[in-house]
Amino acid sequence: MKADILSREELQSILDTQWAGKEIVCLDVVDSTNTKAKELAEKGYPSGTLVVAQQQTAGKGRRGRGWESPAGSGIFMTLLLKPAIDPDHASMLTLVAALSVAKALAEITQADVKIKWPNDIVVNGKKICGILTEMSAQLNHINHIVIGIGINVHNEDFSEELRPVASSLLLECKKRFCRAEIIAKTLGYFETYYAEFLKTENLQILAADYNALLVNMHKNVRVLDPKEPFEGTAAGITENGELIVDTLESRKLVSSGEVSVRGIYGYAE
Ligand code: BTN
Repeated sequence: MKADILSREELQSILDTQWAGKEIVCLDVVDSTNTKAKELAEKGYPSGTLVVAQQQTAGKGRRGRGWESPAGSGIFMTLLLKPAIDPDHASMLTLVAALSVAKALAEITQADVKIKWPNDIVVNGKKICGILTEMSAQLNHINHIVIGIGINVHNEDFSEELRPVASSLLLECKKRFCRAEIIAKTLGYFETYYAEFLKTENLQILAADYNALLVNMHKNVRVLDPKEPFEGTAAGITENGELIVDTLESRKLVSSGEVSVRGIYGYAE
């Protein structure tokens, strides 16, 4: 393994991308790399700017939750994008990012890396990465999108609340990894998949790759729809990123954001 140095220079020396991460802002401590990336977007930083931090003091998770971000333990990064796409299509970029992280981690760690729909990355049924996408837009124009990615790399323990569902690459693979390498490979995959996404503004071209890594594929899932929870068998994603769930009565399409999906036997099983 390369030494785990996470600096701007180290990242620049191994990045093999056209535009993703061409501008890198590397910080020791920040409240949230997403918040920082949004500030930079307002200041005119270009699409492709990458914000990376060693530590976050107010890391943000989905659904208003926080994200544990202790110093040096993980990857806390945000990619700034300014795509000329329909704002209604932007949420699919989270799935593009999940696919890119999963591909990069599978290649580097050789572990059985899977995606739990829509955008958690799991190893051995435990979450090792989360993605938070935020957008500033008008009705039909996107000002900017920030895609924040948190990967648990060297964490040795988690809070009591997270312990049953969260883990790190160190805990699952019993090895340490070079964070800069993970970031570089993720951005490489993201550039490729993003170009495919832009051709159709949907996941038509990527769905097969995504489904191949979907932990829920052909498994029973419980859809925690606040209106009416139901159970069924997951059958992959549609080109719009919805999860296809076959119940005894019918085929249902589940939109991300609306509901939470659980394995029948736990978080991702
Ligand atoms: C989730 O709840 O699953 C999403 C977690 C996203 C965490 C990352 S860490 C880097 C970026 N900055 C943040 O404040 N959040 C995201």
